[in-house]
Amino acid sequence: MRVETICILGGTGFVGRHIAAHLANTRFKMRILTRNCERNRQLLPIPNLQLIEADVYDEQTLAEQFANCQAVINLVGVLSSGSSTGHRFEDAHVRLPERIIAASRAAGVSRLLHMSALGAAADAPSRYQQTKADGERLAMEAHGEKLAVTVFQPSVIFGPGDSFFSRFAQMLRRSPVLPLPTPRMRLKPVYVGDVAKAFLHSLEDDATFGQRYELCGPKVYTLRELVDYVAAVLGVRRLVIGLDDPWSQRQARLLERIPGKPYSYDNYLSSTVDSLCSQDGLAKLGIHATPAEDVAPGYIARRRAQQRHSDFRRMRRRG
Ligand SMILES: NC(=O)c1ccc[n+]([C@@H]2O[C@H](COP(=O)([O-])OP(=O)(O)OC[C@H]3O[C@@H](n4cnc5c(N)ncnc54)[C@H](OP(=O)(O)O)[C@@H]3O)[C@@H](O)[C@H]2O)c1
Repeated sequence: MRVETICILGGTGFVGRHIAAHLANTRFKMRILTRNCERNRQLLPIPNLQLIEADVYDEQTLAEQFANCQAVINLVGVLSSGSSTGHRFEDAHVRLPERIIAASRAAGVSRLLHMSALGAAADAPSRYQQTKADGERLAMEAHGEKLAVTVFQPSVIFGPGDSFFSRFAQMLRRSPVLPLPTPRMRLKPVYVGDVAKAFLHSLEDDATFGQRYELCGPKVYTLRELVDYVAAVLGVRRLVIGLDDPWSQRQARLLERIPGKPYSYDNYLSSTVDSLCSQDGLAKLGIHATPAEDVAPGYIARRRAQQRHSDFRRMRRRG
């Protein structure tokens, strides 16, 4: 299968920008669909990238945009629901993949790379994970002779522009005390550059067709250990208070009421299960997992707003 043009949904986000940077100096053409071009203007200088504002929930629009694309990458995901009914999860993780699959078929797309998440399961505790499982199931069921599907299930992803280390760094900078929910949760954070490589390595490799890949970094940490690590990198001494389950729940209920919803009860539920891989998807794809310690100190000490732009420019220069 030879891919020339790749249509990317969610390509303006954290992972999407890294994938775009990896594809920037290649023979591939990218078409990124976004709900808002203006907000994502920094992507425009990439010569082999087209940024198109579109109603991504409209199947007809999708089919038109997928014309002449041999591959579609779906990176759309939301971490919190818009309301107590959780319709944003259903829309972004289930209805959208349904339409992407239908539009891919209509437009004759032959390759679909679908981003899920580690822990996605019908019986998982959170709606995020449950709806991710539904979307993943639809994607895998769509796999066949005409449309080759590969699914990726990463643990928490870190790298320049992330909302993980960078968010902890921001909180640790601002406050002398950090109440930390689910401090004993264990996870194996995976480097965004390795995730981008996983997508690109599998694009035209028929050994990956119809497969799922769990993506993890090389080392297990507790959440508490990672926060302590960020504080050490920042060179700050802070009182980090690990919350027990009832207090983690109370904190989540409180924070989900404030504007911007920095943390939600559903996020808490996701964190009640460890985020560890049962198989080494990166190794299967021939990718050596990058340790957090090799990359994180280079960006967590800087501020996020400055960072997104400058990191992106640097990544592009590197190719
Ligand atoms: N980051 C992690 O640690 C992590 C871990 C495991 C799995 N994942 C999965 O990896 C994918 C990419 O994550 P990310 O961190 O890059 O996410 P992100 O930075 O939030 O970007 C997601 C993109 O999806 C689009 N989007 C957001 N909400 C949408 C909605 N309601 N309807 C349609 N489009 C919407 C946005 O594009 P526009 O605004 O341009 O339309 C956004 O740029 C997601 O599926 C996520 O669930 C991420």
